[in-house]
Amino acid sequence: MQVRALYQNNRAFWNHQEQWEYYLDRTLAESVHERLQTLREEAAARAASRPADAAESAESEQSGDPPVKKDPETDTGDKSGEDVEELAEVRDGSPTAAEGPNNFGDTYGKYKKLEQDERVGLLKRTTERLNELALRDDTDQEEVASALVEATQDATMANRAMLLEALRLGNDQAKAYTQQMVIETHKMVKSTIRLVDSEVYNDELVRAVVEKSNGTVVQHMTRVFLSGLEFLLHYNREVMTRGIANRIRVRFARDYKDFYRTLLPHLHEDYVSLEHVFLGGMKALNEVEINKFATGFLVHDVGKAEDIEYHEGDAGYDRETVERHVKIGYRAVMEKTSYPREAALITGYHHEYYGHPAGYGYFREFLDAYKEANPAATQDYIMSYTMEPLIDYQVLAYFPAKMLEIVDVFDSLTDPNRRYRSPLSPEDAIAMIRQQFVVENRKIDPILFNLFEEFYETKWSRR
Ligand SMILES: [Fe+2]
Ligand SMILES: [Fe+2]
Repeated sequence: MQVRALYQNNRAFWNHQEQWEYYLDRTLAESVHERLQTLREEAAARAASRPADAAESAESEQSGDPPVKKDPETDTGDKSGEDVEELAEVRDGSPTAAEGPNNFGDTYGKYKKLEQDERVGLLKRTTERLNELALRDDTDQEEVASALVEATQDATMANRAMLLEALRLGNDQAKAYTQQMVIETHKMVKSTIRLVDSEVYNDELVRAVVEKSNGTVVQHMTRVFLSGLEFLLHYNREVMTRGIANRIRVRFARDYKDFYRTLLPHLHEDYVSLEHVFLGGMKALNEVEINKFATGFLVHDVGKAEDIEYHEGDAGYDRETVERHVKIGYRAVMEKTSYPREAALITGYHHEYYGHPAGYGYFREFLDAYKEANPAATQDYIMSYTMEPLIDYQVLAYFPAKMLEIVDVFDSLTDPNRRYRSPLSPEDAIAMIRQQFVVENRKIDPILFNLFEEFYETKWSRR
């Protein structure tokens, strides 16, 4: 087998479980798992029968492989396979975090240390608090915003700690391990939607939650979940009550047609209409869809590494590791949990940028392979609300992932706690995204971006 010939002597590769599992079929992956297990047991037996310092020196002697680029999240070091378990323990502990910048801040360690049932208990309590707030009529917005931020942080971090553990288990075992947390996370997401959708708090809530969660990836995930959810709900209100689809249709030829024609060059220009942008027509989301999409927003960055930067130009930026976060996240959510498949697709497809080279993710790889196998097939639509057209390659993108992409980029640019550069003001960030992501490149969707700008101005900015 090709991959085996290429990598069989490369210890770093075999220590990347998520890498080799990706290339191997299930039976082969299981046999590798078994072999690694045997090696670990043999190593443990050897270690038990010799003094600690002798073991250390033996280990340092054998590390003659050329240095490889390390992924702090998954790379267990340039060591032999038998050390996987042990090194993972070191990697997950504070020493690694102390070596480099830790973009999760100090908060994450607390969730890593908890047992799984303690994490479930924590999430239960935090959701109960949201439910209590929803019932009370004497709450103020500050209190609600604080509770939302804390609950989101608990949910994102407990999920991340759990999913990284689950990646080390077989799929069935992992699903059993993660099941309770999946159930509690669903409840948390529903309770959050109920509070965020409440008209009582609506006008100032986005700004309040964003202001309460500044700095680090923990806060990025918190802000993106809450503001992304607000954006979804805003989209829905616009479609249902303000007839936005008709307004866009009126100005489609003038404002949007050129953009989409470059993405659908095989279509006659008369066919490039709003109905070809949103497969099935621009529509409101139902409650089930909102729940699933919000869950995807919540877990979208669980695959992120702790100690590198995620914005190009930052000192610790390493594109290879950055790209890997969507794949790790996708695999974790898709294979190791019973979260809806929609959530996994959002996790795996949230940096696609309509196939622009600056983007990355699974979909472009799947689409390229499909095009090669089916040269006559075409994608006649821009995006879909459901997964099936995406899986059948009728569309170029997935609606919730395009919504998330906007919130995600906006948050990265305006994040006040970046270590290596100062944040842009929201207005500058919006101007920059428009220029660089919509006008000069075809990365972000222009209809959804205009809607985002309007959402920012009406719900978020200090007026
Ligand atoms: Fe991401
Ligand atoms: Fe993100």
